[in-house]
Amino acid sequence: MFVLVNLKTYPCDPVAVAEAVRDVNESTDARVAVAPQAAHLERVAETGAETWAQHVDPIDYGSNTGHTLAESVAEAGAVGTLINHSEQRLKLADVDGAVEAAERAGLETVVCANNPAQIGAAAALGPDAVAVEPPELIGTGTPVSQADPDIVEDAVEAAQAVDADVSVLCGAGISTGDDVVAAGDLGSEGVLLASGVAKADDPTAALEDLVAPL
Ligand code: G3P
Repeated sequence: MFVLVNLKTYPCDPVAVAEAVRDVNESTDARVAVAPQAAHLERVAETGAETWAQHVDPIDYGSNTGHTLAESVAEAGAVGTLINHSEQRLKLADVDGAVEAAERAGLETVVCANNPAQIGAAAALGPDAVAVEPPELIGTGTPVSQADPDIVEDAVEAAQAVDADVSVLCGAGISTGDDVVAAGDLGSEGVLLASGVAKADDPTAALEDLVAPL
């Protein structure tokens, strides 16, 4: 299972969480990675943790003030990027452009979507993975695998109908190892999560719990 910890803009210490991600990754068969804010990418990557960007824009080098260039993210140490997160939605043409930009820079891609229909559209753009996250469950602590298992199974079906090779992840409300196992039982190859680690009093313990059954 792939466990991608999105730090969003939570006021946690990104380097401390990254060190915990690195250490936990070494103690499990699961693949554990962290997605800090763009401004923290370099410091986080220096810890040795697998580092992802939260977003890249559908742009190339040039006059794009305030945008995030995929090559800069890669140069800062990211190996992959989220695209079209629920909190950073893009138009379909821009999702396509962002996937293209990420691939140009050698970044692995996970395109997020709200529901199975959008997952099918996202899969058609050729990312490495798609992730279904019902927005109403994000940050609630109620795991998607429990509250809406059908959406995960339907997302897997929708993605595979378009591209049998694309990985499907799910997210929203995931905070325990049991949640991750339940997601896997529904056909998901990984999870995206944020508050369960970024807002935890002890992020290391939260991460250890997440991977314990894997
Ligand atoms: O990117 C993961 C995220 O949107 C889920 O957030 O806080 O429900 O784990 P959370």
